[in-house]
Amino acid sequence: MERPAVKSLVDVLETLARWHSDGDPVQLHPGDLGWHWRFGAEALAESLRVWRSGEEIFAVGFVEGAGLVHVAIDPTAGHDDDLALQLFTDISDPTGEVLSAGGALVAAPFGEAFRGLLFENGWVVDQPWTPLRRDLTDEVEGYDLRVELVGPRHVYERVAVQRSAFENSTFTVDLWATMAAAPPYRSAQCLVGYDAEGNPVAAVTVWSAGRGRAGLLEPMGVHPAHRGHRYGTAIALAAADVLRSMGSSSAIVTTPSSNVGAVATYASAGFRRSPDVNYFRRLG
Ligand SMILES: CC(C)(COP(=O)(O)OP(=O)(O)OC[C@H]1O[C@@H](n2cnc3c(N)ncnc32)[C@H](O)[C@@H]1OP(=O)(O)O)[C@@H](O)C(=O)NCCC(=O)NCCS
Repeated sequence: MERPAVKSLVDVLETLARWHSDGDPVQLHPGDLGWHWRFGAEALAESLRVWRSGEEIFAVGFVEGAGLVHVAIDPTAGHDDDLALQLFTDISDPTGEVLSAGGALVAAPFGEAFRGLLFENGWVVDQPWTPLRRDLTDEVEGYDLRVELVGPRHVYERVAVQRSAFENSTFTVDLWATMAAAPPYRSAQCLVGYDAEGNPVAAVTVWSAGRGRAGLLEPMGVHPAHRGHRYGTAIALAAADVLRSMGSSSAIVTTPSSNVGAVATYASAGFRRSPDVNYFRRLG
């Protein structure tokens, strides 16, 4: 296992992008790292772990806080027992470099061999989250909201909607600027939706992984004072439309299954719900 250096971040991003071709599982996306890049390249590198087989990366871990690691595995390596054991040994070591003794959650939606090891070794299923996907072969239907792409002109509104929609948000214009100057944002766009009175009511960031691959919505939110007017549906449709124009073959998103409003909103915007996936929790 390695901790990637800042200069290797682009390599990690490109690897994750290659794991999002048609038919690949919904798992950690380069856009998840792009969104985290708002805290700077060093902070992002610090939160990443990489496993290799020879020269090739076969798994990426994204440690979120002290207690949760998101794991993505090369779609061609999901059944490899030796690679899975390597991953399992590092992740389950409580004094290790991935999860500390207090850290106990693993998000691993893919990788039968690795998931099997967790099951067999006393990890239990925890709260579920829901992946959703919208195919982008056909044109995206219209929606009733004025949506602007964020350049220098709409940044304040982008940040304001984010802070109002997500209670614990720490987003600022400076963090947006750091994110927007970073390599992943070259394949990304922020969108803000305005109601008929010109109020900024909804926002989303979309991340392409390249042509013919799945693009990600992360994050998406509607100002609490403006919910229930289908703005969430509209901004999700706008996001899908922008991803389609960037060459994405599908749009993906994940949300905790308990966020019934979000699941309903994505469904309303034509996203198909896949079976829920559970976190794994270490007992004790
Ligand atoms: C989830 C969220 C975006 C919904 O925005 P919204 O503008 O109120 O949603 P819409 O008006 O477009 O509603 C779309 C559908 O979802 C349903 N819905 C919306 N919120 C709901 C809730 N809290 N509970 C149940 N259903 C809900 C609506 O009834 C509607 O259903 P329908 O298509 O069957 O009529 C908004 O509540 C929000 O910003 N939440 C906090 C941030 C968040 O969770 N973001 C998504 C996860 S990344």
